[in-house]
Amino acid sequence: MIKILVTLFAGFSLATQIFKENTIVPKPESAAMVRMDTVKKDSETGLVTDKNLYMVKAQCTSCHSSKLILQNRFTRDGWKQKIRWMQANHNLWDLGETEKQVLDYLEKYYAPEATVARREPLKNIKWYKLEEKR
Ligand code: HEC
Repeated sequence: MIKILVTLFAGFSLATQIFKENTIVPKPESAAMVRMDTVKKDSETGLVTDKNLYMVKAQCTSCHSSKLILQNRFTRDGWKQKIRWMQANHNLWDLGETEKQVLDYLEKYYAPEATVARREPLKNIKWYKLEEKR
């Protein structure tokens, strides 16, 4: 009886071990790799929900729709240039201290590399041979 229990237990721990090894552990979010298919969107603007969203809404959606942001992907520097362009040509005010918050947000969610809305490639694939049954 004890033998059976020990065997069962050993089998069970082995199974959980294998299960653990095969589970893909998601990497912590880095600024450059935001999974756009997993983030929450603000229902009013369609912009990604974030602690800095309120500032982006306040500074960037009074003249035009948030669509102009949604349709574009720029690097931090690119977004900065757009802001400068609007300041030079379209009466956008000086964002002052808040510019950092706005740029942090835009860089995090609307950078060129953040458009990749697909899962990461599989890693550590364990291939196995299909045995033909005769
Ligand atoms: C004072 C008004 C005003 C504010 C505030 C404003 N914009 Fe604009 N923005 C404009 C105008 C005007 C245009 C040109 C619209 C057009 O071409 O139809 C524009 C265009 C854009 C474009 C499109 C640029 C292109 O190359 O087509 C983007 C992106 C953009 N704005 C982002 C932002 C962001 C980000 C903010 C917040 C920092 C912001 N805007 C705040 C006036 C403003």
